[in-house]
Amino acid sequence: MNEGRGFEWKDDTDQLWGALSSGGAFLVSVDAAGRPNPMTIGWGQIGIVWSRPIFTVLVRQNRYTYECLSASPAFVVSVPAPGRLKDALALCGTKSGRLMDKFAAAGITPHRARCVEPPIVAECSVHYECRILARTLVALPDIADAELVERFSYVPGSTHAAFFGEILAAYRTSRA
Ligand SMILES: Cc1cc2nc3c(=O)[nH]c(=O)nc-3n(C[C@H](O)[C@H](O)[C@H](O)COP(=O)(O)O)c2cc1C
Repeated sequence: MNEGRGFEWKDDTDQLWGALSSGGAFLVSVDAAGRPNPMTIGWGQIGIVWSRPIFTVLVRQNRYTYECLSASPAFVVSVPAPGRLKDALALCGTKSGRLMDKFAAAGITPHRARCVEPPIVAECSVHYECRILARTLVALPDIADAELVERFSYVPGSTHAAFFGEILAAYRTSRA
């Protein structure tokens, strides 16, 4: 199934931005035992850092995904077609992979990626495969806007971390 059409990582981003600003996309990582875990994300950036194409995801430190990304330095972002997979996105955005196999619980299918260990979500149609080049914690004293601290209930040790993933492959697996 993974014979989809490649595209320039910076083109064709409408589906990604549409997903991030509505129901979300799937961030897939693997834990230390190699088990894949999909987590719903609404935050993400694509751009150029270190003269390379970079997908930055922001993951809060208490997420199982944070542990996974620290154990295995790669991730996939799989993007559903507009309006699709709402129930799966809701489950993967409210339940933790510490407690269950979220692929099975959400009725979605892990499919071998091209370049990295974490699988893509087969039911999605756009995929970004990334290897982590760096990560950085958003430290509490560095947050300039107090409203953010309040709104996101940030306390030391509970802020988000930014993971900078070099985009190794970007492709579409269906026209949906
Ligand atoms: C629409 C939506 C978007 C979300 N975006 C993010 C995000 O960008 N970063 C984050 O850390 N958590 C985000 N979450 C919360 C996680 O998906 C949620 O806490 C999840 O249960 C963590 O799973 P895990 O423990 O298996 O990693 C979002 C949740 C939803 C419903």
